[in-house]
Amino acid sequence: MKKITAILLVLVLASLMVVSCGGSGATLIGIAMPETHVLRWVKDGNSLKEEAENLGYRAELQFGDANQGTQNQQIQSFLTQGAKALIVGCINDGVAPVIAEAGREGVVVIAYDRIIPNSGDYDYYITFNNFKVGVLQAESIVAGLNLRAASAAAPKYITLFAGSPTDGNAFFFFDGAMSVLNPFIDNGSLVVVGPYPKTSADRANFQRIATENWQAPIAKTRMENLLSNDARNYTLDAVLAPNDTLARAIIEALKADAKYRGNLPVVTGQDAEFASALSIKNGEQYSTVFKDTAKLAEAAVILADQALKGQPINIPGAVLASGDLREIGNTGVKYVQAFLLDPILITRDNLDVPVEAGFYERHEGVQLLN
Ligand code: BGC
Repeated sequence: MKKITAILLVLVLASLMVVSCGGSGATLIGIAMPETHVLRWVKDGNSLKEEAENLGYRAELQFGDANQGTQNQQIQSFLTQGAKALIVGCINDGVAPVIAEAGREGVVVIAYDRIIPNSGDYDYYITFNNFKVGVLQAESIVAGLNLRAASAAAPKYITLFAGSPTDGNAFFFFDGAMSVLNPFIDNGSLVVVGPYPKTSADRANFQRIATENWQAPIAKTRMENLLSNDARNYTLDAVLAPNDTLARAIIEALKADAKYRGNLPVVTGQDAEFASALSIKNGEQYSTVFKDTAKLAEAAVILADQALKGQPINIPGAVLASGDLREIGNTGVKYVQAFLLDPILITRDNLDVPVEAGFYERHEGVQLLN
């Protein structure tokens, strides 16, 4: 009898603990994602909230609508509610004042996927190897065009797009890509149609190929203008597109031009969005880069948890950026600890990789693999 009473007592205590975990007494983590017009962030936000709650935290999730003022209000409200940690995918450097305030209050701030620029008020950044993202995009162009077989006598033609100049990642993506493409441009086997910043350090030309706030309509209009101007007398073999949302907008513009109907250039991407994976399956977009955001979210919450508990940081599957990659953690004011996950190139040949990783809804996965 005593034994049964003891077991019952343990069960009651255990259930009380479950109720209190994640309940109103739990430590609050504020999750601020930048936007919803690029779908990945919705996934990121939901995964972060779920991971935080799994570890017994209370989590609040907000999306900034690509507007830093809006996101600052959201972060301010997390602080007012007593958040002890913030996980922030920011929009631009206008976020610095609220991060400074969080720093003054001793709140743990984690820059999520995007660095928080021009701030010295936080210590941690979790992201992917963004230089490698660009390298993979360019390698898919080299393979897709069989560029090693091209020559100055019979060159291939490419046009270049970059992401938002307000997003530090856009520079790394571009520089990674150009580290692969420049030797082919230098030997004449690849010709750039339109502006050609050799690296992002050529800010004037980078600005001309950049896409403010990663807005698809801007990329689409720029592609249309290129087609009727700089690219009028060429047939493009490739377009360096920095992410899937922009890749699909660029493809739309290309498909409206009779010259490219049924004869699309190699167009790169990033994020392995379902719509782009389907486009790859259907032979339109050529490649994408899979960044497993569920893993990134899990890693970010482990980082927050360890930092909150004052434990040494040790994140399975992530490496601390060192050597040249240390630049990824340069806020412009200081170097934060940048933890990097590995991106994976996806073409028609390995669409099963994101599917097997559970990145899509079940029915989407079935559609991609059949
Ligand atoms: C992210 C990309 C995303 C882009 C636009 C970048 O900071 O790394 O995955 O496509 O923002 O939202």
